[in-house]
Amino acid sequence: MATTTVINSLSARVEQQEPREVFYQDVIRGLSATDKYLDSKYFYDAEGDHLFQQIMHCPEYYPTNCEMEILREQSAKISQTIRTYTPHFDVVELGAGDATKSIHLLQQLQKTNKAVTYYPVDISGNVINQLEKTLPGKLPSLQLHGLNGEYFEMLHQANILSAKSKVVLCMGGNIGNFTPPEAKKFCRQLRRHLQPGDLLLIGFDLKKHPQIILNAYNDAAGITRDFNLNLLRRINNELGADFDLTKFEHYPTYDPGTGACKSYLVSLEDQRVNIGTQSFDFATHEPVYMEISQKYSLAETETLAMHSGFKPVANFFDTKKWFVDCLWLCS
Ligand code: TRP
Repeated sequence: MATTTVINSLSARVEQQEPREVFYQDVIRGLSATDKYLDSKYFYDAEGDHLFQQIMHCPEYYPTNCEMEILREQSAKISQTIRTYTPHFDVVELGAGDATKSIHLLQQLQKTNKAVTYYPVDISGNVINQLEKTLPGKLPSLQLHGLNGEYFEMLHQANILSAKSKVVLCMGGNIGNFTPPEAKKFCRQLRRHLQPGDLLLIGFDLKKHPQIILNAYNDAAGITRDFNLNLLRRINNELGADFDLTKFEHYPTYDPGTGACKSYLVSLEDQRVNIGTQSFDFATHEPVYMEISQKYSLAETETLAMHSGFKPVANFFDTKKWFVDCLWLCS
């Protein structure tokens, strides 16, 4: 029998009380900045989730398929490698989503470590509830304990709930949504919540031909464009703004030197946008920075590991070598 419990962190509950107010403050802060920006965490309302599902099915968007291939084809190998470092452990997944990738690994880990408990962490209560409904049907004997809240608070909870070693999964685009200095800060913070001997499986989108990367953020069907514009629509709907979506253009960039893939919305004319009592002026061609998806070389992933207290022990690539899941040991 699978055991299921949901823990709500205090801060998650506070956020749930006034999500609209927090959203409003974040939007006002971003649009008041000299270089305007919007926080990419707000992309994912119901329509945004739907559009992102469609992005993942675009022929140009490769990261999901690449990482899926790694987990589908190499979970046995990953599981064996984990076992050589730690025989008894629990799994904590940061940003679990629907667990379609990690389910392959969990299946393998269970074969050799029957007592493993899976702690999926997600800021979205819906995600955790959904997982608790669907996962027992797919992995009936898995011990499951959902944690709804912020990553580090929930990792702390998992450490209180279980004294075993931890294998932390941080897959998908997670780390890529930080700039390199932010990524280092994140990894150091992660390390502080772990003990020597714990392991981290962390996904990176690798540097490759720049055109392949740019195309992934500029699909021909225009779904990524709609995904970006959807945030303006969300601000209109939820905060009563009057963005004219036809007056902004999706502008993706990729710099093969730094590996930074950044999306902007560019104002097509001089215009004023009202949000409640506030108004914001956009000059012709003024950009609004929407999000970063940082690409790494393998050497850069190793430097990041070493600079944040981890030792890289194994790398698992897809056949094209476009994506890597790195296994790092807490040293
Ligand atoms: N951030 C994710 C990624 O880097 C998801 C994503 C894909 C995305 N295309 C996007 C986010 C465009 C914002 C804009 O793959």
